[in-house]
Amino acid sequence: MGAPQRFETQLFARDLDPARPKLLETPWGTMALYLIEGEVLCAAAFCPHLEGPLFEGTLSGATITCPWHQWRYDLRSGQRIALLGVPLPGDKLARCRVERDARGAIVLCAPEAT
Ligand code: FES
Repeated sequence: MGAPQRFETQLFARDLDPARPKLLETPWGTMALYLIEGEVLCAAAFCPHLEGPLFEGTLSGATITCPWHQWRYDLRSGQRIALLGVPLPGDKLARCRVERDARGAIVLCAPEAT
């Protein structure tokens, strides 16, 4: 049996703090939920580089900068962003698509294989 395709968090957007991502243990590892400009985004909590605590990074819009070596990622695409703003291939951040159940609670979809 593989990992489930969906994970019901039982959380609502109102449970999230825009200033601080919420960590969740999911079937696909530790993920972080972000509330950015009213949008819920979900990405791997730890950095693809050397497993630094990306969730403790600095947010600028939907861009997060890892506190360890300052790699930057677009939380919407998972793409790593080079210094001059040009996306780089590889080192993609795992993300979960965010859906809602009938009550409006946040449901995560399995990350796409990268
Ligand atoms: S561990 Fe995140 S940039 Fe190195």
